[in-house]
Amino acid sequence: MAILPILRYPHQALLAECDPVREITADVERLVQDMIETMHAAPGVGLAANQIGVRLKLAVVDLTAGESKGEIFVLVNPRILENSGRYVEDEGCLSLPGFTERVVRPDRCIIEAADLHGKVRKLEGVGLMARAFNHEIDHLHGHLFIEHLSALKRRLIKKKVQKRIRAGDWDLIPA
Ligand code: NI
Repeated sequence: MAILPILRYPHQALLAECDPVREITADVERLVQDMIETMHAAPGVGLAANQIGVRLKLAVVDLTAGESKGEIFVLVNPRILENSGRYVEDEGCLSLPGFTERVVRPDRCIIEAADLHGKVRKLEGVGLMARAFNHEIDHLHGHLFIEHLSALKRRLIKKKVQKRIRAGDWDLIPA
């Protein structure tokens, strides 16, 4: 297992559509273990594979951020089947550390995803879980939460990031 660097916006890997996982190989299983360890170390409640530079439709979610056992969702090729309702809450992303904004998300969703045995399941997410599922699935399509903000807020965040990049205070691949 290994804790891997989490790529930062605007790294190219974060901005492109990921490819479907074709087969659950030993490499994919190892990758998932690394993603879980990296998410817990951050700590964060979710991580998508492209955040560590692997462009596969693969994400992990643990709303306890590793605080309790048996709460980890491994999502292989997840997709949204249904979103409903609406709720506003602060949201951030490990690829944009230090930035949190109010983001409108559905308060209930149904997704479909395979697990590490290749078994496709339907999962329901409510509240924070619906937010996490939507946030991670967005990542796999190359989207970040700032795309849900007003153009003005998004521009402001991009400007702040560019300023930090110029100041040498924001590495796209942190050491
Ligand atoms: Ni994120």
